Amino acid sequence: MRDSLPCEAPVTVQAEILEANTTELFEVAVTRAAELLTAGELVALPTETVYGLAANALNPRAVERIYEIKERPANNPIIVHVASLEMARSCVLHWPEQADKLGRAFWPGPLTMVLPKSAIIPEIVTAGGGTVGIRWPSHPLMQAVIRRCGFPLAAPSANLSTQLSPTNAEHVRQQLGDRVPLIVDGGQSQVGIESSVLDLTTSPARLLRPGMIHEEAVAAVTGEATVVEAGLAGQTLKSPGLLAKHYAPKAHLRVLHWVNETDLSRQLDQLELNPAAVHVLAHTRIPLDPALSHVSVIPHDAEAFARALYAELHRCDEQGAEVIIVEQVPSKPEWRAIADRLKRASA
Ligand code: TXA
Ligand code: MG
Repeated sequence: MRDSLPCEAPVTVQAEILEANTTELFEVAVTRAAELLTAGELVALPTETVYGLAANALNPRAVERIYEIKERPANNPIIVHVASLEMARSCVLHWPEQADKLGRAFWPGPLTMVLPKSAIIPEIVTAGGGTVGIRWPSHPLMQAVIRRCGFPLAAPSANLSTQLSPTNAEHVRQQLGDRVPLIVDGGQSQVGIESSVLDLTTSPARLLRPGMIHEEAVAAVTGEATVVEAGLAGQTLKSPGLLAKHYAPKAHLRVLHWVNETDLSRQLDQLELNPAAVHVLAHTRIPLDPALSHVSVIPHDAEAFARALYAELHRCDEQGAEVIIVEQVPSKPEWRAIADRLKRASA
């Protein structure tokens, strides 16, 4: 085939994709990932929130490659992933009682705690700042790779900066397939949106990025109210993930509330949207109008909704949607992170 091409196309190295759904494949994937990471390479790995682009957190040159590959602004710090309390403690200057309580309640899981960094964490991980975000993820593959490596892994979401986070290996391949040597396929991410980022350097703690562990759950453990960072528009560099435009699909996204089908049609008319170009994601008032060619139903349940959301947005992009209309979600703590991501995706 290749010889018959009239001129040689430039060779792009495509990532190796390893499945991990049997004991043998899991073992092969862990070994290969750990070898590459130990050699200072980057590997895309599954976590329960979203897929991560991992590097040895203690190797500044490897971490620098994360910024290059993602085209990530240099002022945006990267979360460090650990697989034990002992490893977490080695990354921070001191381990406060609140961190201990929260770690015991929510780790392994989708909670990142921001604490003063220890000397072993290079400045490039924290974007020059004195604090580090630490998370112990629950995905078994990620845990096994960290244990095999014996060092913590710096890992942002495995997407290009400002784009939609990946919740399966195919999403990673589409964005980074020609930029990383290995993607491990650990199935669909079970939480589906990024971890809650909680700043424990202030008292009371401040929620910098909402996630599925919400402020009331945190407060129930710490025994004190949690401040929710007002958050839009990047007034602060404290967490650049709070920049308004983030987590965005290619299509234009709008959140609408409708009382019935007629109401929705009227709103689409007013917005001068052609129903045939619109993809609707609904959870409660499901439109049946055949003029709307794409209607997806996501269950009216915050956990199920979070799990499905990014995969649905990726699919809308793949199908060439011009506009995605998402039915407004309830304003309750368990829906806060979803409402936050929808707001940023529509900014
Ligand atoms: O669920 C997750 O957190 C995923 C998976 C891979 O673990 N990771 C992730 O990383 O979403 P990333 O880099 O896409 O988002 C990390 C967020 C950013 O908003 C960043 O600004 C914030 O965490 N962050 C990281 N370190 C911080 C620090 N020291 N202080 C304040 N914010 C920090
Ligand atoms: Mg990200």
